[in-house]
Amino acid sequence: MKVKNICCIGAGYVGGPTMSVIAQKCPEINVTVVDLNEKRIAAWNDKDVENIPIYEPGLSAVVEDARGRNLFFSTDVDEAIDQADMIFISVNTPTKTYGIGKGMAADLKWIELCARQIARVATSDKIVVEKSTLPVRTAQALKNILDNTGNGVNFQILSNPEFLAEGTAVDDLLKPDRVLIGGDLDTEKGKDAMQALVDVYAHWVPQTNILTTNVWSSELSKLTANAFLAQRVSSINAMSELCEVTGADVNEVAKAVGMDSRIGPKFLKASVGFGGSCFQKDILNLVYIAKSFGLNEVADYWEQVILMNDHQKRRFAANIVKTLYNTVSGKKIAMLGWAFKKDTNDTREAASIYVADYLLNEQAEIVVYDPKVTEEQIYGDLDYLGSRPDEENRKLVKVVNTAKEACSEAHAIALMTEWDEFLEIDWQAVYENMLKPAFLFDGRKLLDKHKMKDLGFKFYAIGN
Ligand code: UDX
Ligand code: ADP
Repeated sequence: MKVKNICCIGAGYVGGPTMSVIAQKCPEINVTVVDLNEKRIAAWNDKDVENIPIYEPGLSAVVEDARGRNLFFSTDVDEAIDQADMIFISVNTPTKTYGIGKGMAADLKWIELCARQIARVATSDKIVVEKSTLPVRTAQALKNILDNTGNGVNFQILSNPEFLAEGTAVDDLLKPDRVLIGGDLDTEKGKDAMQALVDVYAHWVPQTNILTTNVWSSELSKLTANAFLAQRVSSINAMSELCEVTGADVNEVAKAVGMDSRIGPKFLKASVGFGGSCFQKDILNLVYIAKSFGLNEVADYWEQVILMNDHQKRRFAANIVKTLYNTVSGKKIAMLGWAFKKDTNDTREAASIYVADYLLNEQAEIVVYDPKVTEEQIYGDLDYLGSRPDEENRKLVKVVNTAKEACSEAHAIALMTEWDEFLEIDWQAVYENMLKPAFLFDGRKLLDKHKMKDLGFKFYAIGN
């Protein structure tokens, strides 16, 4: 079959960019992205493409190219489902905050609601594609709901995990290392559905980079890929602590280790800790699944990656307090960067949130500057933790529009995100406007240690 109409439920960091690229590359397919969030859809439809709700280099241009031609953003979920022959589910699947599996299992509430909605609305055969990262065997649950509550139409379920990384989403989508499609390889209908999705990607991805597997392998591969990547970050972060006490330099170690072709150079950058919506959630999913099958050693092995990451964030914050003569009470700490990495306005699980929370518990006054994250988002992130009343967060945390303003009269600076613009700061002027001794904590190993020390900073970098 040839796909003519695609609907994507969820206009977030995954659905938005992925569908924009599919629409750009497949002009004969109509792509409608729907979301319950009216504000988000209005922003996707904003006349000025620079105002789309997600900041991703290159994305505005792709949207400009396809929007109104064969790319549409809408809140009419039922209509889009009805029209589509292929439906991507790209809704949020956060870690459960209540009940069984609290703090570990994925909350599949939104996925189930989507399935029930599709079942209710669909009057013709549909291919349903899981795009959100999901625990293994979710496809089976989807199929049960669709088959038992639907109008007797045929549903084929595919798993097509997204491997894009935020900040490089457009490039990753245009030149993916691989596209993975899991489906029912045992039936003709299953194979046809997989081929239909292969044909969509084949518009721009070489066939050799499109892998087809059974559904469970596909679901588990996504969790495994993220677990392996996060494990590399925790591994190098563990070494960063050892470097600090032995006099080794973690960048030198990473370079030496990464030149071994069996190891490779990527994802060996020591940092204040990984963030993002995927790594922690996916590993917790893996731990939960392993535990539920009684595989306790497997669960413990992967859980350690998260424990190391929590330790790294705490250790960074504790070091600030210790270095500032064991108290930051009433002291002004400038935080440069709030996003979980550069080139995104996403802050989910960002290390900055936890470091700020730690410092606020020590009664610090914090001033934040991030080039792309809004004040509303920063307060929202802190309020969500529930560590103190919301008014207290507004009293103790200020959000400003420039790095210079954030650092003025500060006791210390904590560099949290590796934004390129932080390399361009006039550090001499920043130094002059700070209280002395002027402490600078580089959580990203972004700045030149010698240059900063020469300027007079008391400089501390992870792994050094
Ligand atoms: C990740 C996966 O890379 C992607 O394939 C998957 O689809 C979603 O999850 P993302 O979370 O967007 O993507 O960004 P990524 O580049 O993986 O970075 C995750 C976190 O690890 C960031 O906080 C980043 O700063 C940190 N990191 C990454 C390091 O601290 N050191 C590194 O060497 C690499
Ligand atoms: P991701 O990073 O996985 O894309 P986001 O949270 O950025 O996650 O996006 C998920 C989007 O899905 C949100 O904008 C949310 O409003 C939307 N959503 C969740 N449930 C539904 C639903 N049943 N129907 C339509 N949209 C939904």
